[in-house]
Amino acid sequence: MISKRVVAVYPGSFDPITNGHLDVIARAARLADHLIIGILRNDEKTSLFSVAERIEMLKEVVTHLPNVEVSSFDGLLVEFAAAQGASFIIRGIRAVSDYEYELQMALMNRRLRPEIETVFLMAGEAYSFISSKLVKEVIAYGGNISGLVPASVESKLRKRLHGEN
Ligand SMILES: Nc1ncnc2c1ncn2[C@@H]1O[C@H](COP(=O)(O)OP(=O)(O)O)[C@@H](O)[C@H]1O
Ligand SMILES: [Mg+2]
Repeated sequence: MISKRVVAVYPGSFDPITNGHLDVIARAARLADHLIIGILRNDEKTSLFSVAERIEMLKEVVTHLPNVEVSSFDGLLVEFAAAQGASFIIRGIRAVSDYEYELQMALMNRRLRPEIETVFLMAGEAYSFISSKLVKEVIAYGGNISGLVPASVESKLRKRLHGEN
């Protein structure tokens, strides 16, 4: 029997990548033969890091996962997923607060492309409270974010927000 190569897409803003995202990526990379991280390109104006910077930061922290690729897209997520030959969309759930929006999106995406299934993964509990937004707020006010983002990302955040090297 020839088994099908399972391709999954994990979309998001990743502004910047956190250890919560990374935990979801590691789990998804075990489920799929090939995982494509897709950075959404439409909200560049309000982001701290450009898409090119985010791609670079992501690539740096997934080098140990050989079946993970980093890409970007605009337009409809399901069309990007279909063009990549993906049968799954991966999303992360932290708490009940994520559920409503994620459910809405998953059902809309199912309506657009019924053959693509959304799969929700929970990060380990140590990472479940982490969000890019909160990490940026804490570091902006001088708080300690070590352990919440990869070290390479922490130094880029410091540089961007405090002008440190
Ligand atoms: N700490 C975390 N644990 C589990 N899932 C997470 C965590 N942080 C983010 N996610 C999930 O990762 C995905 C991408 O998040 P994000 O970069 O904020 O992009 P988006 O703008 O699409 O929400 C979303 O499904 C989000 O719920
Ligand atoms: Mg988000």
